[in-house]
Amino acid sequence: MDKIALGVTSSISLYKAADIIRLLQKEGLAVRVIMTEKATNFINPRLFTSLTGERTIVNLFDEGQRPVEHIAMADDICLLLIAPATANIMAKLATGIADDFLSTFYLAVKSPVLIAPAMNQAMFLHPQTQANIKKLKDAGVEFVEPESGYLACGQTGSGRLASPEKIVQTSLRLIRRQPVFKDKLIVVTAGPTREALDPVRFLSNRSSGKMGYELAREAYQRGAEVVLISGPVELEPPAGVKIEKVISSEEMRQAVLRYYDRANAVIMTAAVSDFKFSQTGSEKIEKETLPPDLKLERTPDILEELGRLKTGQLLVGFAAETAQMKARAGQKMKKKKLDLMVANDVSRQDIGFGCDENEVYLFWPDGRERFIQKTAKRKVSQEILTEIGAMLNARK
Ligand code: CTP
Repeated sequence: MDKIALGVTSSISLYKAADIIRLLQKEGLAVRVIMTEKATNFINPRLFTSLTGERTIVNLFDEGQRPVEHIAMADDICLLLIAPATANIMAKLATGIADDFLSTFYLAVKSPVLIAPAMNQAMFLHPQTQANIKKLKDAGVEFVEPESGYLACGQTGSGRLASPEKIVQTSLRLIRRQPVFKDKLIVVTAGPTREALDPVRFLSNRSSGKMGYELAREAYQRGAEVVLISGPVELEPPAGVKIEKVISSEEMRQAVLRYYDRANAVIMTAAVSDFKFSQTGSEKIEKETLPPDLKLERTPDILEELGRLKTGQLLVGFAAETAQMKARAGQKMKKKKLDLMVANDVSRQDIGFGCDENEVYLFWPDGRERFIQKTAKRKVSQEILTEIGAMLNARK
């Protein structure tokens, strides 16, 4: 199991380290906590020992610890994360002072280092702190910038520890990044679109957006720049991903086209509504005046347009089928000039729309195909991104 060393220093926000540990563990990572002596004034190290199942390290010469433990453990980890990090620890790391376990450990570490600062705004913005941060950045240390908001000192300003979700997503990106996704822009569309009849009524579908959100998250973790263009859904956008919220198919079309020139890949998981009302009202239409034969017309086929405008972007479509999956998905792939078609059977209740699991077939234009057995949408998204990575690699 991959292991992360989590350095915890004496900021009041250190209680959030417990959430960070839980989120990392949920991702299958083992965590070993290193606290500074001052941090133990706020929380007893036993809390972290209980959460991680491994003894929390505080001093260089703790009992039961081999004197060279900092060297042995430094070779063993995939990331050193320091969250929260005080101005003091950053000053020490920037100048190479090694007078406790954490600062000594830092000098022995070869893995990426990620720092999430937390302190009062004046301390954070002080030229000395900023100079230390710059020095660390120049040495290759990565940062999760603090957020603005209410601070423990009673003031409002920047210096608040970033959210545990953001810290964990950034950590995962440092651990899981792959060279092929570096400097690549991946656009993902997700969710349904809504076509309005009037300000209160609309035409839509049952798409939950889960598959697209998982793909966006996974692409970000592998190191890509990700834009997620989302119809109305009940999901939190993954941290680190740029979100563009849209309602109608036309808004989705315009958002995708804005990024298309720059995009290396577009993954269209969105269930774009195929129809819209021919006539719409800017005010609520009274039912007495509603025409009995409401007319519908086709919405623009976004993916087909992308296929026509293609200049090297990798296009991935999703086909929701209820019968003759292979034949129908194949026809759509050809018509829309796709590089990969992901097809699933939406007549099944246990997969696809709204579910956490999916079972899909992947079809390529050269006739190759692959079946991904029913599994979590997160796992499906990992498999799809691995295929996209291989296709991007082959294009180099
Ligand atoms: N799609 C799109 N614009 C539309 C409709 C669909 O970009 N107006 C995209 C979807 O995001 C998906 C792919 O096209 O990636 C296939 O969508 P699907 O609804 O299965 O295909 P349709 O071509 O709409 O065919 P039908 O509904 O008749 O099965």
